[in-house]
Amino acid sequence: MPSLFDARADSILTSLRDSGQFKFLQMIEGPMDATVRLRGSGECLCFCSNNYLGLANHPEVVEAGIKGLRDYGAGTASVRFICGTFTPHEVLERTIARMMGTEASYTFVSAWTAAEALFPTLCEPGDTIISDELNHACLIDSIRLATTIKKGVHKAVYRNNVLEGEKSLRAALEAARASKEATGQIWVVTDGVFSMEGSIADLPAMRRMCDEYGALLVVDDSHGHGVMGKLGRGTHEHFGMVDDLGAPPLRGENAARSAAPPGNRIDLFTGTLGKALGGGAGGFVAASRRAIDLIIQRGRPTLFSNALPCTVACSANTAIEIMLREPERVQRLKDNVAYARRRIGEAGFDVLKSPTAICPIIVHDTAKAIAMSKRLLELGVFVIGFGYPVVPEGHARLRVQISAAHTQQHIDRLVDALKKL
Ligand SMILES: Cc1ncc(COP(=O)(O)O)c(C=O)c1O
Repeated sequence: MPSLFDARADSILTSLRDSGQFKFLQMIEGPMDATVRLRGSGECLCFCSNNYLGLANHPEVVEAGIKGLRDYGAGTASVRFICGTFTPHEVLERTIARMMGTEASYTFVSAWTAAEALFPTLCEPGDTIISDELNHACLIDSIRLATTIKKGVHKAVYRNNVLEGEKSLRAALEAARASKEATGQIWVVTDGVFSMEGSIADLPAMRRMCDEYGALLVVDDSHGHGVMGKLGRGTHEHFGMVDDLGAPPLRGENAARSAAPPGNRIDLFTGTLGKALGGGAGGFVAASRRAIDLIIQRGRPTLFSNALPCTVACSANTAIEIMLREPERVQRLKDNVAYARRRIGEAGFDVLKSPTAICPIIVHDTAKAIAMSKRLLELGVFVIGFGYPVVPEGHARLRVQISAAHTQQHIDRLVDALKKL
């Protein structure tokens, strides 16, 4: 006799299959690169990975991971405050803080977990969190968690990138200021690069507005690292909101506790190590020393969940070092992005405009997006179609993602395949 759950799950899965929205996991039989070997399809051009700088299979990044594994074993077998912090964690957190221009940083097994540690730990009753409607799901869920476990934390949502007028950031700030209950800290949170649109937040204008209302500005720049700014430090670098990179700290010196004031105009960041910065896994919060200390002392993901494995910490640290020392890699990505956007546009497709490596081609219908992606795969090009619930109903799209690993010939082949659709 099937359980209630079995019957319900079968009904959902059948309706997904019947409507052409069922997602099949592609099996990749080799490393991530400009081309990948897919089970059943063979060698294909890859235009759907977040491997923006082509570092996922860089020999130095791979070697660093192997060395991390040899030197420290598989992992900590413990949460960090008990006996789970290795030197590579400290080194990586120093590197991240330097990259972001913050006093300190702390790593987690994913950016999702980092976000989950942020609002529920740092917010208190009376605080208000104001969020862009297109923020990543991890921010949305982190806010939901904060408002659920701490009664009296308020939330408000403003229209994507709309800073003035109806349903704008200013309207939400005004409402928070006028509220008798929302008497605590105001937090404004946005993606730096919006993951489904590829558009960017207007951080300088948001900073000015936050200052007017005494609000803190939180940015998830998971798609900005490796892509935005001359060195790929992120959207704040793109807007000139962070000082030049200082010299790397001497080995052994705990830069996270250094007295040097951070020259950065964003209050808190979350970010991922699972995209441009090595592509393995892992996420971080980068912020003031006191915010990080509070997360270490009180964050449930820090107190009750294991650390990033050393192999990943070492790979990610090397990936960031390569990014910072090879600005030509970031420039190559930018050149590829400009070339791809121009060529896709010339081929008659409507690509949402922006300087980022995410080039969404809107096709509206989820089943159509999935069918187009299937046809592209038959043509040897791996691009994913996104539909509901990843994007709102009616906004399905093909999300083309560009990498520094691509050549112009790869991009030409993508465009030829798109023309055949
Ligand atoms: C904007 C943004 N933030 C956070 C995440 C989560 O990253 P992670 O895979 O490290 O949890 C993603 C991943 O898709 C993302 O696009």
